[in-house]
Amino acid sequence: MRTQVAIVGAGPAGLLLGHLLHRAGIDNVVVERHDRRYAEERIRAGVLEQGTIDTLDEAGVGERLHREGLPHAGIELLFDRHRHRIDLAALSGGRAIVVYGQHEVVKDLIAARVASGRPLLFESSDVAVHDVDTDHPSVTCVHDGEPTTIDCDYIAGCDGFHGICRAAVPDGAIRTFDRVYPFAWLGILAEAAPSAHELVYANHERGFALFSMRSEKITRLYLQCAPDEDLAAWSDDRIWSELHRRLETDDGWTVNEGPIVQKGVTPMRSFVCEPMQYGRLYLAGDSAHIVPPTGAKGMNLAVADVRALSKALIARYASNDDTRLAAYSQTCLKRVWRAEHYSWWMTSMLHRFPDSTPFMDRVQRSELAYVTSSEAGSRVIAENYVGLPFDE
Ligand code: APR
Ligand code: PHB
Repeated sequence: MRTQVAIVGAGPAGLLLGHLLHRAGIDNVVVERHDRRYAEERIRAGVLEQGTIDTLDEAGVGERLHREGLPHAGIELLFDRHRHRIDLAALSGGRAIVVYGQHEVVKDLIAARVASGRPLLFESSDVAVHDVDTDHPSVTCVHDGEPTTIDCDYIAGCDGFHGICRAAVPDGAIRTFDRVYPFAWLGILAEAAPSAHELVYANHERGFALFSMRSEKITRLYLQCAPDEDLAAWSDDRIWSELHRRLETDDGWTVNEGPIVQKGVTPMRSFVCEPMQYGRLYLAGDSAHIVPPTGAKGMNLAVADVRALSKALIARYASNDDTRLAAYSQTCLKRVWRAEHYSWWMTSMLHRFPDSTPFMDRVQRSELAYVTSSEAGSRVIAENYVGLPFDE
């Protein structure tokens, strides 16, 4: 099979890239290891920043997110038993966020892909990339039991942190930057009406907690836990009791309980590879960088990458102009490092570190008091949380 762009991975990055290229008339094939159900049901984060919403709208896949997503104009930081609101919209010139699960974005993109009629090869095994440092790269896989070769002009590595694309780059051609945190998040989905309209990020002496939601009937909650936490040790009762303790406030606010329908542990890591390209292989999304979820940036960065990559490929095919492709990594890394700093900073400000000292605890408290009382401090949170405008 022959195509212009072969895309490895059908997460938000790969699917959106495929769709943007399709709309520009650029032929592409998406190869995915798992089946459609896995892609559509895997529960991930759920905050879409303004630029992500704009990009999905421009791509014609924003209809359901506006209908079913929950627009939020603020978030709250909870510490010392008080909630402090950060007015995202007022502090960022009217930009805001929408809470809409990543798997819902994936469903919308898969539906658009199927409607386009372009190939999306689910359940492909033994996926490998070849000759990426030549002008005739290819992707091979086994699909429907048949060995398949996809000859192409370019390969987009959208196969997540554990994918094969970044691993195919020779040692020494990319540099990686890494930070692993000494904690993880235990996340649950509960069939309970959210007890507040906005997200609540809590710093508590027993550890971080986050109150979020997916719909008017589903609450999403997280607790800081050990990186190797054993889920079996967490009965539903223990989870609720810990959530109530960490999210307790003097005004009597409390989370609503309901049947827990999903539980999982999310590791926390910061990671960047530079450059995000090797030969004709371009990395996008989690294959190139990871942020801890505290800043709600993971999917948004993936969208920003493929927005830049689609524009670069469109310029290449429409007018034989390689300038944007040559600048792809540099363009993305500027935004990536901003999000890396922000996510690391929010994580540091809100979590309990096992090696913390009474001095560090006081410093953390002081920082929280400052960012919630000073307009300048709150603006730093707001501007980054809603996402900076694209640099195009
Ligand atoms: N061959 C084909 N597909 C693969 C391979 C492989 N060898 N390895 C991984 N994949 C697929 C995965 O099954 C997954 O569907 O690549 C896809 C990668 O999707 P994501 O992990 O969702 O990554 P990305 O599209 O970059 O989206 C980033 O995901 O982890 C969250 O917080 C992150 O929200 C962010 C988003
Ligand atoms: C979520 O709703 O899953 C969520 C929200 C905000 C975050 C991380 C996750 O920072």
